Amino acid sequence: MDCTFGGGGHAREILNRMGSAGRLIALDRDAEAVNRGRELEAEFENLKVLHRNFTDLMDVAKEEGVFGRVNGILADLGTSMFQLKNPGRGFSFSADGPLDMRMDTGTGLTAADILNQYAEEDLVRIFRDYGEERYAGRIAREVAVRRRHVPYRNTLDFAKQVEDIYGGRRGRIHPATRCFQALRIAVNEELESLPRFLESGLEVLATGGTLVVISFHSLEDRIVKNFFRDKAKGCICPPEQAQCTCGGNNAKLRILTRKVVRPSGWEVERNPASRSSRLRAAEKLGAAQ
Ligand SMILES: C[S@@+](CC[C@H](N)C(=O)[O-])C[C@H]1O[C@@H](n2cnc3c(N)ncnc32)[C@H](O)[C@@H]1O
Repeated sequence: MDCTFGGGGHAREILNRMGSAGRLIALDRDAEAVNRGRELEAEFENLKVLHRNFTDLMDVAKEEGVFGRVNGILADLGTSMFQLKNPGRGFSFSADGPLDMRMDTGTGLTAADILNQYAEEDLVRIFRDYGEERYAGRIAREVAVRRRHVPYRNTLDFAKQVEDIYGGRRGRIHPATRCFQALRIAVNEELESLPRFLESGLEVLATGGTLVVISFHSLEDRIVKNFFRDKAKGCICPPEQAQCTCGGNNAKLRILTRKVVRPSGWEVERNPASRSSRLRAAEKLGAAQ
């Protein structure tokens, strides 16, 4: 199961290597990605692309009759190039567009709704926790003042306001980058979805199946790393207990990537978007004997 179909790059590669004996079920919460998937479906009859959130993984696996039988689950988190490059989706400030940022445009609050409606302290929390933005308090304060007169609608407008708070642009990274990341994470509830996805993935996999996650910032990677570490522990006794009474054979996963896998210099040169990617993989173990 490819749980983040996007532009179908991974799906195509998996299908080419898998041959006709296997079956690939792909999901994306973005209807445009699913529409692109129709072309690949026409090429590969063992591919099915579904418009679903990967938090529904367990239901999808049951509906497709593959629960507990899946050999590989992949999630390549974050936004696709198609989303980033389309100003109409509001993910980037390279050109003006509506401040939307929803991966699934059929549901939920937009980034503009969050800026216009959230309490100032919630905006501080979003900019600080999801964007690691050092001027979180000041930006939230200025947003709360400005929206009383002019509601937020467009990307460039907000990007310019953050730039002004920074006193202009210095260096390679635009000052609004962290606030845009923060809003995107909040709009799509990305950090809430990931633990649910990981727990579901473990249930849906067959014994010996592999769970692979590619993340693009440390907040996501930390969730994956801690999940793998916890599920790879044999002993689940409380840490304050002096002696193990659980039997010590409770590990549900075996970690396959002792160190996180980063792209090589060669890969970054060919595909600059891979620069901040981090891959972790683990194998599902059988039930404890
Ligand atoms: C980095 S792109 C994937 C690119 C893809 N691996 C490829 O080779 O083209 C991430 C995709 O995951 C989708 N996505 C993000 N969160 C999701 C979720 N919770 N459920 C389903 N799809 C999600 C996004 O809409 C986006 O299309």
